[in-house]
Amino acid sequence: MGYHESVLLHESIDFLGVTPGGIYVDATFGGGGHSKLILEKIGEKGRLFAFDQDEDAKRNTEQQEFSVHPGFTFVPSNFRHLKRQLRAEGIRVGTVNGMLADLGVSSHQIDTAERGFSYRFEAPLDMRMSRVEGETAADLLNTRSAEELQRIFSELGELRNSRTLAQAVVQERERKRFRTTGDLVELCTKNLMGERMRYLSQVFQALRMEANDELGALADFMKEALEMLAPGGRLAVITFHSLEDRMVKNFMKSGNMEGEPDKDFYGNITKPWDLVTKKPIEASAEETKQNTRSRSAKLRVAAKK
Ligand SMILES: C[S@@+](CC[C@H](N)C(=O)[O-])C[C@H]1O[C@@H](n2cnc3c(N)ncnc32)[C@H](O)[C@@H]1O
Repeated sequence: MGYHESVLLHESIDFLGVTPGGIYVDATFGGGGHSKLILEKIGEKGRLFAFDQDEDAKRNTEQQEFSVHPGFTFVPSNFRHLKRQLRAEGIRVGTVNGMLADLGVSSHQIDTAERGFSYRFEAPLDMRMSRVEGETAADLLNTRSAEELQRIFSELGELRNSRTLAQAVVQERERKRFRTTGDLVELCTKNLMGERMRYLSQVFQALRMEANDELGALADFMKEALEMLAPGGRLAVITFHSLEDRMVKNFMKSGNMEGEPDKDFYGNITKPWDLVTKKPIEASAEETKQNTRSRSAKLRVAAKK
């Protein structure tokens, strides 16, 4: 099986408007599908910085022929450190021509049983993309307060019985600490509301997003992307969760995550972006048929003023 089937591949690269000789960032290398297409378009003189915080993605670059391109650099880092990492590579603020982020996890990560991303496999309940930084999903279940867990299940998991599940977690961990995916699946099965697979997916997604601070990383990334882009440079973001999409929409509309209009000294509304996509681009019927993951994908693109 391949590493990852890219979502909205041609749509996102077309909107990025890649030109030969430009400087580009793929913030989420994964299986390299988007990077490969960018490299085909930038020519010998162009540069591509591909970020991924997962060691597996780094190893994957070594197996890809396109990574021998002279302008390709893999950056083994969280994309929230975009500015620091690019400056360390000699890239100046305000000079990048385009950036793409295709959020979430790759199929490779989900299908690697021991990573603990999937309820389908018995494994340690880890779910960290970087394997080394931060708390595991088991740590969250074993240490967070009932209120915190409820917030995670309700906001990130959109569960209708978030309070019940949070209380069940707190009760269960007094008896036995959470260690494996199976421990969590068993507890969820006793507290199901609605369809089983959907419920488990929502719980696992919520814990994954919290363990990796995915919303926090996205906010940091977008702010630094705005600084690093050249005037006219484009930012393209593919999201898979309604909260992420709202953040991207707000940031592209107003320059902040809340979507509040920013004003200058004279009270005039300032907008740092021109919208390239007025509405989010979604996958075609053909793509959603072939790749179920693409069903929840939303692509938004904006150009720095
Ligand atoms: C959906 S996959 C990207 C797939 C890729 N576009 C392709 O076509 O193969 C997301 C990748 O981004 C990485 N990732 C997610 N959040 C990240 C972050 N904050 N910093 C760095 N890498 C991140 C994950 O480890 C994963 O490999």
